[in-house]
Amino acid sequence: MTHSAAFPAARPRRLRQADWVRRLVRETTLTRNNLIWALVVHDGPEARIPVAAMPGADRLSVAAAAEAAVEARRLGIPAIAVFPYIDPKLKDANGSQAANPDGLVCRAVKAMKDAAPEVGIMVDVALDPFTDHGHDGLVRDGRILNDESVARLVDQAVVQAEAGADIVAPSDMMDGRVGAIRAALEQAGLTDTLIMSYAAKYASAFYSPYREAIGSASVLTGDKKTYQMDFANTDEALREVALDVAEGADMLLVKPGLPYLDIVRRVKDAFALPTYAFQVSGEYAMIKAACANGWLDEDRAILETLHAFRRAGCDGVVTYFAPRAATLLG
Ligand code: PBG
Repeated sequence: MTHSAAFPAARPRRLRQADWVRRLVRETTLTRNNLIWALVVHDGPEARIPVAAMPGADRLSVAAAAEAAVEARRLGIPAIAVFPYIDPKLKDANGSQAANPDGLVCRAVKAMKDAAPEVGIMVDVALDPFTDHGHDGLVRDGRILNDESVARLVDQAVVQAEAGADIVAPSDMMDGRVGAIRAALEQAGLTDTLIMSYAAKYASAFYSPYREAIGSASVLTGDKKTYQMDFANTDEALREVALDVAEGADMLLVKPGLPYLDIVRRVKDAFALPTYAFQVSGEYAMIKAACANGWLDEDRAILETLHAFRRAGCDGVVTYFAPRAATLLG
């Protein structure tokens, strides 16, 4: 409970009168240690391919991703989360490329770890970049299959961990996948691989620019509402998190970010585990579009939104703004 004198004994503005006192009373800190840099890789020779809805967050070649890892080290960003744009010719109904040890993701992970071994590399575990229907799991007769999908996701996670990924991050929202992945990692002797579970991931309009970036927007049939959560729900998020914690998740992720800070707060309070949020592509696009019109100041918007995540209880934020934020926080 907060106690306060009455006005004029209490004048809250006294504590805001100058920068030095504002700094002294600041409750929330944001440092480069709170950043995970989200980036998309592609398999072509072009160093960077722009994504229309995500200005500045280009698709990077494997070589450019390795340079990004060096840049992350220089900027003090602890980790990079990598997402693939897969050549449409390589996509199939089963997403077979997802578990290819010589595929784009594994080659990108190796290149980044070779270039900057000190930087943590996180990979997405889900089939959507690899399937010709754009879903995160296998589909039969229009239904997303749970257990069959989990078996594929387990193969994908083990292959990625063997390639050197430090964190595997299942973003598919199938039931039971964290436990299955954890068991397979232990079985393979990959006892140090971290699992960051996209524990509370909502079926959201804010993923559209990402689906353009990874090339799944044009192929996706239907929506993801039978596996991603209903945005009207909050107790359900706690049940999802409880299952993933029991199954062996080391770190928890809430997604999308800014519109879901109430979920972050509940998850952090209930579980007190390392908790993250994803400032997703649509959130990035909104800020970028407003700034391109001169309606917002980008640097101020970046720092304010990242502080909001921290205030809500996030230990860190997965964000396409990470390099800019790290530079500002230098
Ligand atoms: C899918 C996945 C998505 C994102 C990361 N992994 C989108 C989706 O569920 O369709 C979104 C990231 C973003 O919007 O920035 N496995």
